[in-house]
Amino acid sequence: MGESITHHEFDVIVIGAGGAGLRAAIEASRAGVSVGMICKSMLGKAHTVMAEGGAAAALANKDPRDSWQTHFRDTMKGGKYLGDWRMAQIHAQEAPDRIRELEQWGAVFDRTPKGLTSQRNFGGHTYPRLAHIGDATGLELIRTLQQKGIHEGMQVFMEYTVRRIFKTDGKVSGCFAYDRNDGSLHVFKAKTIVLATGGITRCWEVCSGSWEYSGEGHALAYWAGAEMGDMEFVQFHPTGMIWPPSVKGILVTEGVRGEGGILKNKKGERFMFNYVPEMYADEFADTIGEAEAWVEEVVSGKLATKRRPPELLTRDVVAKAINSERAAGRASEHGGAYLDISWRDPEEVKKKLPGMYHQFKELAAVDITKQPMEVGPTAHYVMGGVKVDPYSQETTVGGLFAAGEVATGLHGANRLGGNSLSDLIVFGKIAGESAAKYSKQQDFADISQSDIDELIEETLEPLSREDGENPAEVVNDLREMMQNKAGIIRTGNLLEEALDDLEELRARSALTSPGGGRTYNPGWHQALEIGAMVDVSKMCTIAALRREESRGAHTRDDFPETDDSHWGKINSVILMAEDGSMGIDFVSYPKIPKELRSLLDSDDLQEEE
Ligand code: FUM
Repeated sequence: MGESITHHEFDVIVIGAGGAGLRAAIEASRAGVSVGMICKSMLGKAHTVMAEGGAAAALANKDPRDSWQTHFRDTMKGGKYLGDWRMAQIHAQEAPDRIRELEQWGAVFDRTPKGLTSQRNFGGHTYPRLAHIGDATGLELIRTLQQKGIHEGMQVFMEYTVRRIFKTDGKVSGCFAYDRNDGSLHVFKAKTIVLATGGITRCWEVCSGSWEYSGEGHALAYWAGAEMGDMEFVQFHPTGMIWPPSVKGILVTEGVRGEGGILKNKKGERFMFNYVPEMYADEFADTIGEAEAWVEEVVSGKLATKRRPPELLTRDVVAKAINSERAAGRASEHGGAYLDISWRDPEEVKKKLPGMYHQFKELAAVDITKQPMEVGPTAHYVMGGVKVDPYSQETTVGGLFAAGEVATGLHGANRLGGNSLSDLIVFGKIAGESAAKYSKQQDFADISQSDIDELIEETLEPLSREDGENPAEVVNDLREMMQNKAGIIRTGNLLEEALDDLEELRARSALTSPGGGRTYNPGWHQALEIGAMVDVSKMCTIAALRREESRGAHTRDDFPETDDSHWGKINSVILMAEDGSMGIDFVSYPKIPKELRSLLDSDDLQEEE
């Protein structure tokens, strides 16, 4: 074909350099195999940094009553009992060791007066459980893992986009990528691949993620034939910035509420008391008096013995409450809610939430020690992703492993804040370990030349198109459409419309012309990304259309009830059919054993056999 290709060979390729990818690469390198890490952006620029408020682990430093059992229970309950109990158990049991390990590797966590790792309250966690570094926990986690990782000998390919995973005899044999800087083309032979590409929330107009979050990792797995699960569950974090418009969606950490921030509507009413769900009725305050007693205890450093304030309900509940206030005409000036922490000592606010203090000062000219912030929901996380074996993180494709947000299972229908950072380090480690082990038992396989030629053609083809639309227009239309038709509140009609719109967008995307050449050309990159964005949006829309109930992050206006007798027992699975169409099915996780079931407080789980 005449195109110049650079060939590389690694036992393990890790795609993605956020917390899960770095943790996997460290573990695989330590096992003595060669590791190549490919990342779309600069090393260290990952959505992991958007988990600002902390990493959840039952260290019991702030409250000795905490335990892995309570963390397990909170995670299952927060996920509305749709999570994989095996992953929830592993996660709750291993998170404390992974946090201690980070400390040994140099992470500088905030401290309690006794010198222990400090922990803060977060939504849906019974006890203060989030180990944190001010409000920049994800950033410190990445910094620590990066520093550790580069000394383990892995080779990093920055600003490369992976376009396809190759399979030979049904198993992973490598991947195809291009360098975003100079447009050069690369084939990586690999015995195993660990996908750690994060999420898909850039498919929504208002989101907390930056440009990298276009869902290519999810699409790569799907195109390789992997089963995808629970794609209908997309988390809208209740508090993103909403004003000025240029910063709409940027995250306002849940740590603000964890430190006592209260939500009010335009009438000055503390509205969350009106939204405490039945399943949480015993745990959350329903009067200001109760909530204030809790705050007093927390501020004075005593144990959290009282019912928690309703601002610390799970994210699905808080996001929907803000939405309902807006629908009832009680929104803040720019369509959200007011979040107020100004009642606390200004020095404490600056010490515990330095990032938020500067973010609002610089981007919105708001001094949060004196004025309330204006906030509204922002697409933040996808609970759905590649289905994995809980003990090895292997997907349904031989040699393909996945960890972190791109994988599914742990969070069910809704993720608890702080469970993402701990997920990355617990399951990133397991994925790296398993991939190294697997690769030691394999030889490199040949990659078919016709597969490579096909990819070269596909990748370069947009550059030869003329007189088409700008790809950015198609991407913007897709994001706006998903926001309006597959957002926080969904209906069957809107979802049907969304499916039609996606096919139109797909057709338009095939005709875009980015112009320019191969040297750093963002238009070309976008033209290549749209295919993944359409496919992941479609996975979400199909699964949302089929789930005829409301549960966690998935709300159907036409099916407002939670249906535990049927939908509460099954998870959606998306798989590419033989003819290339997108198929959907439903499966259940194995039944939960009695001893774990007894830790939960729901009557709605499947009966033991
Ligand atoms: O609000 C936050 O700091 C986000 C944390 C998370 O998503 O886990």
